[in-house]
Amino acid sequence: MSDPSHAGHDPTDGHGLVVVANRLPIDVSVDEDGVVSWQRAPGGLVTALRPVTQATSSAWVGWGGQPDLELDPLEVDGTWLVPVPLSTDEVAQYYEGFSNDTLWPLYHDVISPPAFHRSWWDTYQQVNRRFAEVAAAQAAHGATVWVQDYQLQLVPAMLREARPDLRIGFFLHIPFPAQEIFAQLPWRRQVLEGLLGADLLGFQRAGGATNFLQTVRRFSDGTTRGPLVEIPTGNGEPRRARVGTFPISIDSGRVNALARTEEVRARAAQLRADLGNPQVLLLGVDRLDYTKGIRHRLQAYGELLEEGRLSPERTVLVQVASPSRENVDAYAHLRDEVELTVGRINGSFATVGHPPVQYLYQSFDATEMAALFLAADVMLVTALRDGMNLVAKEYVAAHSDERGVLVLSEFAGAADELTSALLVNPHDIDGMKDAIFTAATMDPRQQRRRMRKLRRRVLTHDVQAWSTQFLDALAEVHRTA
Ligand code: F6P
Repeated sequence: MSDPSHAGHDPTDGHGLVVVANRLPIDVSVDEDGVVSWQRAPGGLVTALRPVTQATSSAWVGWGGQPDLELDPLEVDGTWLVPVPLSTDEVAQYYEGFSNDTLWPLYHDVISPPAFHRSWWDTYQQVNRRFAEVAAAQAAHGATVWVQDYQLQLVPAMLREARPDLRIGFFLHIPFPAQEIFAQLPWRRQVLEGLLGADLLGFQRAGGATNFLQTVRRFSDGTTRGPLVEIPTGNGEPRRARVGTFPISIDSGRVNALARTEEVRARAAQLRADLGNPQVLLLGVDRLDYTKGIRHRLQAYGELLEEGRLSPERTVLVQVASPSRENVDAYAHLRDEVELTVGRINGSFATVGHPPVQYLYQSFDATEMAALFLAADVMLVTALRDGMNLVAKEYVAAHSDERGVLVLSEFAGAADELTSALLVNPHDIDGMKDAIFTAATMDPRQQRRRMRKLRRRVLTHDVQAWSTQFLDALAEVHRTA
């Protein structure tokens, strides 16, 4: 599958658009005999970029998701996928360590204490350099390179140094914390300098962009004027980077259409029947992550059952918790805690054949998810901190029937847009109980009124609009720089 024309760096050749992300948009598996296979994992970003990648020659630089695996580049749907190999040690130190046990908890308001290890930082730098080198080798002269997320914050400056001709964008999918929290990072200056290599830095929420500008003023040599950062270059003329807010979204048209199909509607009815046709079907869908507020949600639900405000016979909470980052201790502990709590609630309130919590430690495909969304009367998104939360938007997109209620944490980025949801502070268990009760008993007219407003927003601001806005803004910054 290897194509030598893509292998070396020739600035006169190469791709007009290069996406750099921790993961490639494929799932790679290796069987017992060492045979490697892959299948498409079309996340939102793939869909978002489809119009661009159809018009421009494009490459996607990322890790194949398995340690110690040398994959040849491959073409998928017109995009050249270029794998960046990671050793077992690098996965432990760069991915599980610095990305997911240092940056992830730090950027999510230290819900779990971040660990600071110098060896993880060393590996993070090394791996970021590898991604930058591979990206530089793929980009045509003057190409656009779009770097994604917290795993690759040093890549913009590394790329700029190697290839000053490039137009470089960076988008942070997770929150950017307040400066007092960011201040804890021993390598805060280096991370800011890495990010400021970009021409445009995108954040999910206005608050994240403001936090970033404050940290730049405090911990870097950059000065700010509104959304512009001026970075001294040593040769008189400062360089400019722009900071903006670009709330990410989903392929809402696709979810809407899928949830209208006969297959999904029948499956939704079947799911309700399998659950004993409950009066109220509550749903939670999360990666099993401590940022998602799953324990807080279970606490509120358990108390509502205990107080008799919700009937354990007529109510079911389906909690899908998809496995994630299982080698990181905090995630393993969370799993234990969640499973203990589910067991306690079911132990106390189940009747034979009817547990009030249906807990699924699994991942499901898009069709099954659409059916679950459609079947659910109430969707619980109770994150303690979340960059956006796309599940909230998927629930809304699935409800062309205009029924259903979204209970949404004000600490999820989606709360800025989905203001017709029942907004909650998940730390306030009593407030959350009241909101869940209100949602469970809301009359259909009120549901419709809220759902219509939510749908208007989600269907008009989809992931294609998000990527177009970002890439247009990047082209504009570069033109005026
Ligand atoms: O929200 C940040 C993010 O990195 C997403 O891009 C990704 O889908 C999710 O977390 C899961 O991350 P991982 O690649 O660690 O499984």
